[in-house]
Amino acid sequence: MPIEIESPEQLGYDTIRYNLSESSYTDTLLKDMRIDLRDLGELTLCYGDHAGHPGLRELIATQSSSLSAADVLLTIGAAAGLFIIATSLLEKDDEMIVVRPNYATNIATPLAIGAIVNYIDLRFEDGFRIDIEAVRQVVTNKTKYISVTHPHNPTGACLTDAEMRALAGIAERYDTWLLVDETYRDMVFGDKLPVACEYSDRVISVSSFSKTYGLPGIRMGWIACRNASMMETFLAAKEQIHICGSLLDEELAYRWLQQKDRPFEKIQKDIADKFQILKQWMSAQDDLEWIEPRGGVVCFPRMKRPAEINIDRFYETLLHKYGTYTGPGHWFDSPRHYMRIGYGWPTRQQLREGLDAITNSIRESKRA
Ligand SMILES: Cc1ncc(COP(=O)(O)O)c(C=O)c1O
Repeated sequence: MPIEIESPEQLGYDTIRYNLSESSYTDTLLKDMRIDLRDLGELTLCYGDHAGHPGLRELIATQSSSLSAADVLLTIGAAAGLFIIATSLLEKDDEMIVVRPNYATNIATPLAIGAIVNYIDLRFEDGFRIDIEAVRQVVTNKTKYISVTHPHNPTGACLTDAEMRALAGIAERYDTWLLVDETYRDMVFGDKLPVACEYSDRVISVSSFSKTYGLPGIRMGWIACRNASMMETFLAAKEQIHICGSLLDEELAYRWLQQKDRPFEKIQKDIADKFQILKQWMSAQDDLEWIEPRGGVVCFPRMKRPAEINIDRFYETLLHKYGTYTGPGHWFDSPRHYMRIGYGWPTRQQLREGLDAITNSIRESKRA
């Protein structure tokens, strides 16, 4: 997928001055995790518990009153969790439903397996809401699973409780599975919905420490599901792929999650402040329009009159003249006059300057 070779880490962070292409909160320094590392030398580097650090699974399960450690399987980031799920549920020519745009793995892995992917496309005109009726029309008894992301990347759109219930109900009625990639769950503005797998034992949740806490480098994710036999299948798949996780990553995540005073409120406040910067900038843009996000740290605006703008020149100017990087629409199977702006990762100053660079680059890329 081009998104991988075009990702900022592959491009080289030093080539980008204003990185507005990230979908996570600012990366954390190890020392800022404020965990005691002194006795880590005593950690035996054996193969660990195949399901993952039991204490860590227990702590993750406390997010929900109806989950226990047995309902949680640790994975190498949410990405590996999604891969485990797709390879467990799908074989060649199986049918599944994907709400699109979606995170690349949620589409690329089913396609690589040879599954028949039925897309439900989110539309700007519908406020990027999932058309539940369209899901009902496409689902059949042959559907192996329905894949959604909530809060949504790249749009920041969120489901209501009623919509989540409706989707879980469809999964139950058709004896299929609902996969909810809820990597951004803790970043909803306002009240959070319950963890998705609480809605039904036909729902599979996937999440990780990467996005909300700015910890993508410890590669800690998890699958949560209240169906024991499905969890056994996922464990078997994980064992086939990488046996267990990194004991070091699991230990760091465990110690960090044990802290009562994790800096999450500070992160939420910073995200809220950056969102205000973004909102103010957006309200002054005559060439852009958006659906205001309701969660996450990304939005997906589009150019109002794309025919008037040389889009290639826009991205060229943005990166090479202004050193600013956003996620172009094609990363998300969308036209390139859409772009993902990640506003949570840069500093406030970088965000302001990067946003101004977008304004300037659009102006300088207008067709005569
Ligand atoms: C929706 C979504 N799911 C999963 C991932 C993978 O995240 P990680 O493997 O770091 O947890 C990403 C990363 O961009 C994402 O946006």
